[in-house]
Amino acid sequence: MSSTVLLGVTGGIAAYKVPGLVRLLVKAEMRVNVVMTQAAAQFVTPLTLATLSENPVWTDMWGQRNRPSVEHISLADSADIAVIAPATANIIGKIAGGIADDLLTTIVPALKCPLLICPSMNVNMYRNPIVQENLQKLTRVGCHVMEPDAGYLACGWTGEGRLPEPEAIFEAIVGLIGPRDLEGMRILVTAGPTEEPLDAARVLTNRSSGKMGTAVARRAAQRGASVVLVAGPLKVQPPIGVRHIPVRTAREMHERVLDEFPNVDVVIKAAAVADFRPAVSGTGKIKKQDLGSSLNLVKNPDIIAELGRIKAKNQILVGFAAETDNVLDNARAKLKEKNLDLLVLNDVSKPGAGFDHDTNIVTILHRSGRQEPLDLMSKEKVADRILDRVVKLREEIMCGKT
Ligand code: PMT
Repeated sequence: MSSTVLLGVTGGIAAYKVPGLVRLLVKAEMRVNVVMTQAAAQFVTPLTLATLSENPVWTDMWGQRNRPSVEHISLADSADIAVIAPATANIIGKIAGGIADDLLTTIVPALKCPLLICPSMNVNMYRNPIVQENLQKLTRVGCHVMEPDAGYLACGWTGEGRLPEPEAIFEAIVGLIGPRDLEGMRILVTAGPTEEPLDAARVLTNRSSGKMGTAVARRAAQRGASVVLVAGPLKVQPPIGVRHIPVRTAREMHERVLDEFPNVDVVIKAAAVADFRPAVSGTGKIKKQDLGSSLNLVKNPDIIAELGRIKAKNQILVGFAAETDNVLDNARAKLKEKNLDLLVLNDVSKPGAGFDHDTNIVTILHRSGRQEPLDLMSKEKVADRILDRVVKLREEIMCGKT
């Protein structure tokens, strides 16, 4: 069953971002009930939000005069999460003061789900001690307050008070709705290709877009883990809420991964790391006629093999294998040789699997020998299945079963 989001919209210029947030929620198959204050309708029309949310939009307490109106209770009861974005100083003060004089402020006290408040206002209003005291009170009683962004504001001032982008609010919502079963876990994820310089104009690289690794990092963060992402050049945005360390070469990735390794519980290596690099990479551009003889390659560090040698007993190491033939034999060999706990095998010759697709078809191999072939699914869903296995493995380690 998809989640239901109750989205409260109040009268700030940042309401222009709300249609973008509604689209993201609907695309993620969430049901969106929009409740707007009268002031909000000055900035974005109820018709726009009704169309995008594919639901009626509530703008006043009394609905049609000829029928009993307890919609504020049914709207509160049906919500898996309530979000107020943008949240003006006015709505923040009214909620903190227990005022319930319109539909939105009447719904809030009836909520039984998480409430995410996204303040948006002029920097001086935001810094006002009364507004800050109201926000601290709401935090004390269990509301989630999302820090506004800082930058140029519509009123001409610069400073904190900007409503975060829809993608950031969406990530915060997903993080609050879903299971936070990775809370407290520290996870290092690698993603994307590496680029090995050949000369001033050319590099050796591969087809990795970074979608698989960033999906793992995003879902891990949404499920409560603290995530560091070491990634080569990505074709996709790194997820919000993770610490992103950009690298280019396999040696840079090797150095940064080894730096982080002692402080993490789990490593998931989805990056496509080059096994070799040009022996010499000059600062000039190699002439066409000399190119063929310039491709003298030397080995790069095998990062995951090194992690397998030094990992502590309670650390979990998950590798990927990009194969095209003898896939299971090659994958089993990697699982054993590199001392992995799990190996995610993808036959990158299969349509819809591997490089640069939004989907993947994987088989999860366990150290115990167990194999779990999964059907074609989104890389987000593959990420969740991998993380489910990590949770189980972690439980076994903590109970001394492995
Ligand atoms: O990024 P996408 O476009 O979404 O594509 C996803 C993917 C196909 C890149 C991903 O699903 C995948 O298969 N990643 C691993 C690709 C790879 O390098 O496979 P491999 O069999 O060559 O390496 C096996 C494992 O060793 C991998 O975990 C790899 O990160 C690691 N490795 C490899 C070489 C090296 N020098 N150091 C390593 O740590």
